[in-house]
Amino acid sequence: MKNIAVFASGNGSNFEAIAKACQDGIIKANLVLLFSDKKNAYVLERAKKYNITSKVITLKSCKNKEEYENKILAVLKPLNIDYIFLAGYMKICDSTLLNAYPNRIINIHPALLPAFKGAHAILDAYNYGVKVFGITIHYVSPELDGGKIIAQDIISYQEGDSIEVVEEKIHALEHKLYVKTICKLLEEK
Ligand code: GAR
Repeated sequence: MKNIAVFASGNGSNFEAIAKACQDGIIKANLVLLFSDKKNAYVLERAKKYNITSKVITLKSCKNKEEYENKILAVLKPLNIDYIFLAGYMKICDSTLLNAYPNRIINIHPALLPAFKGAHAILDAYNYGVKVFGITIHYVSPELDGGKIIAQDIISYQEGDSIEVVEEKIHALEHKLYVKTICKLLEEK
């Protein structure tokens, strides 16, 4: 079985969906690490609940981004990580990390890329008045929310849905599509 790591900066609902799918044998992989760049992220509580080892390294504690990513690599290497899944990891991956895991770092984004890149995609799309909301899973490249698309799907948006309703539908879809896509990726390789 492949060894996988999840990187997350915040709430961690996608992490939990992945952890549960691993526990239930739906994703056939060992989830060996939850990495976070935030000391107080709620995702760390979720990792405890699932008995997944977690590690926090903050960018602030490092001289620069290169040192930060080298410290992350020092954690990953002994664990023989095959894939890294970003799940609300709010940092851009630089070449140190990308070159160590070519085509092995995957991200989920709550919009139909290449539209609405960035940290507030749902709100941006909502304020723009879009009528077709969706999500994207893609390989990570040096460009923010760039990289080849692996999977996309849309929610059932009803005219008049509040932002909260849209968010809820997007997150529910993310949990399903991320698990499905991870299963597929692991089967292919
Ligand atoms: C998710 O909606 C994910 O797509 C988004 O952060 C959220 C994390 O939620 N990622 C990005 O916006 C990346 N640009 P979670 O912490 O509950 O999984």
